[in-house]
Amino acid sequence: MTKIFAYAIREDEKPFLKEWEDAHKDVEVEYTDKLLTPETAALAKGADGVVVYQQLDYTAETLQALADNGITKMSLRNVGVDNIDMAKAKELGFQITNVPVYSPDAIAEHAAIQAARILRQDKRMDEKVARHDLRWAPTIGREVRDQVVGVVGTGHIGQVFMKIMEGFGAKVIAYDIFKNPELEKKGYYVDSLDDLYKQADVISLHVPDVPANVHMINDKSIAEMKQDVVIVNVSRGPLVDTDAIIRGLDSGKVFGYVMDVYEGEVGVFNEDWEGKEFPDARLADLIARPNVLVTPHTAFYTTHAVRNMVVKAFDNNLELVEGKEAETPVKVEG
Ligand code: COI
Repeated sequence: MTKIFAYAIREDEKPFLKEWEDAHKDVEVEYTDKLLTPETAALAKGADGVVVYQQLDYTAETLQALADNGITKMSLRNVGVDNIDMAKAKELGFQITNVPVYSPDAIAEHAAIQAARILRQDKRMDEKVARHDLRWAPTIGREVRDQVVGVVGTGHIGQVFMKIMEGFGAKVIAYDIFKNPELEKKGYYVDSLDDLYKQADVISLHVPDVPANVHMINDKSIAEMKQDVVIVNVSRGPLVDTDAIIRGLDSGKVFGYVMDVYEGEVGVFNEDWEGKEFPDARLADLIARPNVLVTPHTAFYTTHAVRNMVVKAFDNNLELVEGKEAETPVKVEG
């Protein structure tokens, strides 16, 4: 009987895992709440493939340990593949799949809600109300329809974000090195990132963490932006030079920052630090600011998205172990 082993299964994923198992009685499914590490790789021994999700790196040692236990078919329940040692995966002949589109709306919606909250100065107003200061001034909002919204990256998520912002009545402009023909016809694209930075009141990033994009938001790009710009990063931490953002916030150039991802998030986000020494003073500073909205990489975290991540990852893994062509293969190249 075909067997699939899943790592790091959370409580909120279990109903969807059960749904998949019920629909696939001929497949044996086993799982653990433990992360995949060189030490836990042996738990999957005897399985034909593994389903995984973790922010912890898939190191050469981890991949080797899986291969030593006879497993080279690995299906991610998420999109990002930046934490896989691809050279090692290639050497060991791994076949990998991801779930590139599980719910663009989950992430785009979060970006839009948080951007609107920044514009209305909601965090400041919430803090005032909590201490029973019920005066209006000086906490005045900006309407979304009065903003030029610049979208960097017009893939699935960027496009949903554009629609939501247009629903609010904003003027939307976009930049992408890969132009979508439909959007191009409609005249959304500006010629360069510099043009977008110069024109946009709100800038939202929807691009992957590839070397060319690392620290694309830096002192120089912030200097090109409009006074009182709002910057939104729900994509990948390394896109933003955190020190530069802090300088932009300190100088008053940046009106607000929406941050769902952070350069130093691995090992810090999705942990409970209450009552413990907080490990990152820079992050603590950002969290405390009234014009910074920090969420711990939860833009994706909806029931809709989690269901799709689980079900699609298991579907993908079954395709791999049955020797079928995977619907969403990841290029394994070092
Ligand atoms: C991804 O799918 O790569 C994400 O960024 C969401 C992840 C935290 C599950």
